[in-house]
Amino acid sequence: MKVLVVGANGAIGHKLVELMNNSPHQALGMIRDPEQAFALQEFDAEPVIADLECDCGPAVAGCDAVVFAAGAGPHTGPDKTESVDRDGAMRLIDACEATGVRHFIMLSAMRTRTPDQAPEKLHHYLQCKQAADEHLRRSGLQWTIAAPGRLNNDAPTGHIEAAEVLEEFGEIPRVDVARALLELLSLDNSIGRRVEMIAGKTPVREALTAS
Ligand SMILES: NC(=O)c1ccc[n+]([C@@H]2O[C@H](COP(=O)([O-])OP(=O)(O)OC[C@H]3O[C@@H](n4cnc5c(N)ncnc54)[C@H](OP(=O)(O)O)[C@@H]3O)[C@@H](O)[C@H]2O)c1
Repeated sequence: MKVLVVGANGAIGHKLVELMNNSPHQALGMIRDPEQAFALQEFDAEPVIADLECDCGPAVAGCDAVVFAAGAGPHTGPDKTESVDRDGAMRLIDACEATGVRHFIMLSAMRTRTPDQAPEKLHHYLQCKQAADEHLRRSGLQWTIAAPGRLNNDAPTGHIEAAEVLEEFGEIPRVDVARALLELLSLDNSIGRRVEMIAGKTPVREALTAS
């Protein structure tokens, strides 16, 4: 499959591009800065220059699947959370529908189901992510929502705990999330499904298949 990774210069997006280099998929990496292209070409991924705050139609055209691993991050204001994490994602979903992309995987967050139960400083971010998730569910696309707990940079274990709704909140290494996104591209049961994930004891593919 031809897969566009959005946020390909980010920690998870870049790792996903690297993992896809040893997979049957052909990776394209969406970046804002042409100078970031070299880091994608290292993994045989085609750079696609586009910004989520602009029209991304040309960037998704011809792709079979899109993985949204972008985000404005915690060091920008609420305006960017809205224009990138919420509106940028929604515009991208619309562009995917318009251009015939089949599968859209959204990297979301575990607490988007209940933003008000998270610490107050996260409410706005989680509400924006929740709105983007809802837009995806209501779209005509085949959708998958990956909802990890708090991300960390620990060494990957290749093992996670996954379920539609996990009973406890927890952390997960970014590289294990990238591995899960790769698996979700090809697992039969990933369509029309939101899956929460944290670090655990079950191999990633097995955890996602069983959950
Ligand atoms: N922190 C957590 O605990 C947590 C938990 C669950 C989910 N998440 C979600 O997971 C996402 C990915 O995590 P990460 O650590 O890989 O993030 P990251 O390293 O900050 O990567 C985010 C990427 O998004 C790109 N981006 C930002 N604005 C953009 C725009 N307007 N157009 C196109 N690309 C844009 C950035 O591009 P540049 O490189 O050009 O800046 C960056 O490469 C986060 O954004 C967050 O929404 C986070």
